[in-house]
Amino acid sequence: MTTPNQFDKQTVNVFIDKGYRILQLINVGSFGDVYKSLYNETEVRAVKVIDLRRVGKRTQDVEICREIAALIQFKHPNIIKLFDAFRANQKIFLFMEFADNKDVGKYLESNGPIGENVTGKWFKQISNALNYIHNEMGFVHRDIKVDNILLFNNYDLAKLADFGLARYSLSQQTNQIEISHTICGTDAYISPKQLLCQGYNPVAADCWSMGVTLFTMLNNKLPFGYCPAIKQLNKLRIGGAVYVDKLYDKLIIDKLSRNVREVIDHLIVYDEDKRWKITDVLKSKWFKNI
Ligand SMILES: Nc1ncnc2c1ncn2[C@@H]1O[C@H](COP(=O)(O)OP(=O)(O)OP(=O)(O)O)[C@@H](O)[C@H]1O
Ligand SMILES: [Mg+2]
Repeated sequence: MTTPNQFDKQTVNVFIDKGYRILQLINVGSFGDVYKSLYNETEVRAVKVIDLRRVGKRTQDVEICREIAALIQFKHPNIIKLFDAFRANQKIFLFMEFADNKDVGKYLESNGPIGENVTGKWFKQISNALNYIHNEMGFVHRDIKVDNILLFNNYDLAKLADFGLARYSLSQQTNQIEISHTICGTDAYISPKQLLCQGYNPVAADCWSMGVTLFTMLNNKLPFGYCPAIKQLNKLRIGGAVYVDKLYDKLIIDKLSRNVREVIDHLIVYDEDKRWKITDVLKSKWFKNI
């Protein structure tokens, strides 16, 4: 972690040159630290600082390039906008629009479970973003979770962020979705096939994470706990679909409407062929009234 006044002179000069002034540290993350900054002394922007000495060689080459490549291409009202990316003194700087209302994870920490109406508004916006990523851009996000949804405009607007794990999902040869073997993302949001180290459809895996995200927004509770990877692997091996359905049924809160339960029930589905796609979510009865 570097506090704003600890950046070396060379880096500060690059900031000045590009019109930026670093104000304060917002978050220390696994990939990089995020700071609030001022552009041209007027516009507040966020900057993610990735210290290349802190991340592994593979990460340097692959993940960071992915985040920049994805964000440069994506143009959607519900995807975080990247203004500038540059490298100086073993660090990469990603300047983005600043989320003045933090992220959904922090919102849950302060306010508890989010009502169906507000959840619906934000979840619909993120579903639109994911539909764009999956079906217009041919990408997958691979780390959808409450902490990667940023909030703007007095909590009226949600945007998907953190594209450090995003990748192109279609095979160059066949143009079909390529089965993935890498386990990545955040434990609590990882789909059963990944936990079982089986080849999986990465588009369907994003939809599983959307189900976990939706459940968490409504209940302020993860459907399978924080670290399902080790604890639940054996149960998954033995119980498969039955295990997923049972565990999830026990946790669901009765006061949720039938329409929102339908969406969760079709996303947290063991079998990825039966799991809803993002287009199904967008056509759901729940979204008709939002
Ligand atoms: N543009 C932004 N505006 C305001 N806050 C932001 C912005 N980008 C990121 N943050 C804050 O910093 C956190 C981490 O950012 P991000 O997820 O991009 O980085 P990360 O290194 O992948 O971190 P993590 O490992 O925690 O996911 C977010 O959850 C959010 O609270
Ligand atoms: Mg993140």
